[in-house]
Amino acid sequence: MAQIFDRSSNALARMSLVLTGLIVIALGVTLDELQRSPWVTRQGQRADQPVPFSHKHHVQGLGLQCQYCHTSVEKSSYAGIPPTRTCMNCHAQIWTNAQLLEPVRQSWYTGQSIPWIKVHDLPDFVFFSHEIHVNKGIGCESCHGKVDEMPLMYAQNTLQMEWCLDCHRNPAKNLRPTSQIYNMDWQAPSEDHPAWCAAVDDKQGVPTAQSVSCTRNDPSSAGAEMASLHLAQAGAKGLAEDVAAAPMPAAPPSYTKFTSQEDMGHFLEVHYKIRTPKDLTSCEVCHR
Ligand code: HEC
Ligand code: HEC
Ligand code: HEC
Ligand code: HEC
Ligand code: HEC
Repeated sequence: MAQIFDRSSNALARMSLVLTGLIVIALGVTLDELQRSPWVTRQGQRADQPVPFSHKHHVQGLGLQCQYCHTSVEKSSYAGIPPTRTCMNCHAQIWTNAQLLEPVRQSWYTGQSIPWIKVHDLPDFVFFSHEIHVNKGIGCESCHGKVDEMPLMYAQNTLQMEWCLDCHRNPAKNLRPTSQIYNMDWQAPSEDHPAWCAAVDDKQGVPTAQSVSCTRNDPSSAGAEMASLHLAQAGAKGLAEDVAAAPMPAAPPSYTKFTSQEDMGHFLEVHYKIRTPKDLTSCEVCHR
């Protein structure tokens, strides 16, 4: 039979197959990149809010606590956006003529809430709750970044599944004492700046996270300082020898010193009763 295709067309066919393959891969990579790009995730973008509310001014400048406005963050899934009444606590007196605040006054007179645009918005098929994260020692900053330095709110992180899983695989690297969850400047323990933690009350039924107490001041040197203070006072009265002979007050023995986030994280993991990575990355945790 006569050859219909010569040898070169064979090569051509092979080449076009390879080429098609490459194009498909390139397209896939592009789409994947696109799906993760800030353009889709809105990471880092400032929404065009009806009022240019500044966390920087209100948190860093005025020293307001997050809970002043996001009242339900510790006890519900939602942190909540404050009602106009909260703003009017101050803006009934401050900046009462400012054009910027006109939508706030409008909202107050009409009773219609300010139409804030959501900056963080998970799809409905994902289950999320602030309550458990905050009560198990994940600070606002770990997920939202340095909010106190944001003139306008933006999403610091993608909130994509991979981001959630990255922490769920190893929460220890982000755990902090629950007393520090609102702290925007929390520093992980280090050689130069250690932390001391003690399990104060590990009874069953007691919220575990609250039963851990941590400090950045050496608890044993607090005792020593106290002793030297007594010494100084006594010295003034000429009783130095008596006091020096008295035994030093002992440091509470249950404090453990931590010089790395990893070590403190594992200690907290145990006392906060954090589930294993296997449990925390199973699909049902977030997709119910
Ligand atoms: C004076 C009230 C007030 C205080 C205090 C405050 N916020 Fe807000 N917060 C708001 C308002 C109003 C919005 C909605 C407008 C916006 O997104 O900027 C908001 C939005 C947010 C959002 C984004 C919500 C969304 O749409 O996804 C986060 C995250 C947030 N705040 C975190 C914090 C943290 C963390 C603190 C403490 C460091 C804090 N806020 C303190 C009033 C406040
Ligand atoms: C504790 C009092 C207090 C509360 C509560 C408060 N503000 Fe303010 N706000 C101020 C003060 C004081 C200023 C002036 C800040 C400055 O100039 O540094 C201000 C300034 C502003 C400005 C002008 C721009 C800026 O940030 O300087 C806007 C807009 C504003 N506030 C919106 C709001 C909204 C919206 C709420 C409610 C979610 C709110 N404020 C709640 C005290 C408050
Ligand atoms: C483990 C990560 C994580 C931590 C910790 C966290 N948030 Fe959020 N936050 C989110 C996610 C995810 C959303 C979006 C939720 C949604 O769309 O359902 C969100 C949404 C919000 C919102 C928008 C309104 C709402 O209730 O959904 C506010 C306000 C907020 N967070 C404030 C805070 C404050 C204040 C803290 C600290 C006390 C905090 N968050 C701690 C992840 C976190
Ligand atoms: C910085 C760390 C961190 C990030 C980021 C994080 N989580 Fe978590 N998450 C935790 C910890 C710690 C727990 C508590 C685990 C425990 O108690 O066993 C938890 C628990 C949960 C639970 C269990 C709630 C319950 O009642 O069983 C859900 C659901 C959850 N996270 C969803 C999410 C989703 C969705 C995201 C991403 C949008 C996310 N988490 C991001 C640390 C994190
Ligand atoms: C810690 C929370 C968490 C766990 C555990 C988790 N997911 Fe997700 N998942 C998410 C979040 C958040 C999104 C939304 C991502 C977005 O909006 O881009 C998501 C999205 C998805 C999607 C939609 C497609 C996509 O990528 O956006 C699928 C499918 C999915 N998850 C499957 C799974 C399966 C299967 C498992 C178990 C192996 C699982 N997920 C475990 C948080 C989680």
